[in-house]
Amino acid sequence: MLDLGDVRQRVRRYRDALHAYGGELTYAGKALLTGALVQELAREGCGLDTVSGGELYLALRAGMDPARIVFHGNYKTGDEMRFALASGVGRVVVDSLAELERWSDLAVRSDKTVAALVRVAPGIGSGAHFHVHTGQEDSKFGLGWRSGEAKIAVKRALALPGIELLGLHCHIGSQITELRPFEQATQAMLGFLSELSSEFGFQASELDLGGGLGIRYVVGDSPPTIEQHVAATAGLVADWARRTNRPVPRVLLEPGRAIVGEAGVTLYTVGDRKVIPGVRTYLAVDGGMGDNPRPALYDAPYQAIAAEKAADPATQRVRVVGRYCESGDVLVNDADLPPLAPGDLLAVLATGAYNHSMASTYNRVPRPALVFVDDGQARLVERRETFADFMALETDETWTPLPYHLASGQACSSAETGSR
Ligand code: LLP
Repeated sequence: MLDLGDVRQRVRRYRDALHAYGGELTYAGKALLTGALVQELAREGCGLDTVSGGELYLALRAGMDPARIVFHGNYKTGDEMRFALASGVGRVVVDSLAELERWSDLAVRSDKTVAALVRVAPGIGSGAHFHVHTGQEDSKFGLGWRSGEAKIAVKRALALPGIELLGLHCHIGSQITELRPFEQATQAMLGFLSELSSEFGFQASELDLGGGLGIRYVVGDSPPTIEQHVAATAGLVADWARRTNRPVPRVLLEPGRAIVGEAGVTLYTVGDRKVIPGVRTYLAVDGGMGDNPRPALYDAPYQAIAAEKAADPATQRVRVVGRYCESGDVLVNDADLPPLAPGDLLAVLATGAYNHSMASTYNRVPRPALVFVDDGQARLVERRETFADFMALETDETWTPLPYHLASGQACSSAETGSR
């Protein structure tokens, strides 16, 4: 469930704070991408960062202006590159020298020009878990600043036919809860821009400083605000331009989590409870790592509340676990909750980012529905997956017919996942 009003407020705060510096907001679709969200973002004047042909396809089908789309990826397939070029995406972010040559070839053959940003690894990686650090020198993303690779790429981009180099890009990591890494990365990128200006006379018209701002998952988390994030990035760029008497490049930010994360809530139905005397109590729910793999992947903390008994005193500490066949399928390690019985609803908070978008059908458990709430009205934007959806991909048609009462699997799936 996503609170669209909350999303809208955050988009407007980013957009307005960036506009004050002449910058632009580009939402990172990897955090959560569904047609209705794309349409809402487009209405709010927000661009979209896409990272695959699939994300690009969905964005175009939802009516996003291709000129507002940024196309990313550390490895883009030939098909994806042709698709991006043909659809007229506004900018591509180039991750390697080989990719740069491929874009140039493609552009020349199609008689088009590719508006490009070179992705730089500024040597600063940050974030809640090592797996979400991206800007360090030793990374699969981008071209190293310190190693000199980024400079070689810029020089090449300026010489290659079919490439219009707009500027640079960096993204240092995700769920970053302090300002310092943003400031350091911005300063590193500005240092690089100064070098490019004095060595090649290149004045970047754009500087994309990525996303990464952290959110509040549990009580006690206190990430910087949206306005502080903008000041630590676009604000420093404006100061630099003033100090060095250079034109201000347009700053793009591409937050994902900070737009949708706190707006999401996942509802589960409480199932069985297992008490191991002297050890702990497990509370199993009808979802888990299939709809939220983050605890298993990054030890990510979450907060759970009893959805219909939120004001009742929390008298028990339980480990909330999912229904998947993995010991790592834990949603909340230590949740303090009122007594809950099978059938009660449990809400896990701040699940708007990297839950729905990273969901799987592991154990052949259908993925839950997605509901938008706006101004007190609920709207189903993606229906719950069904067993029939699984069969739709199979090519062998020698199926065993099931008797009518089993044919849809509904008797089973609706009883088990009825509230999700
Ligand atoms: N721009 C680029 C180039 C990115 O790679 C990402 C995230 C973003 C923007 C948006 O970052 P955000 O503002 O959402 O932090 N699955 C992990 C997060 C992976 C982030 C990947 N890139 C998680 O669940 O924590």
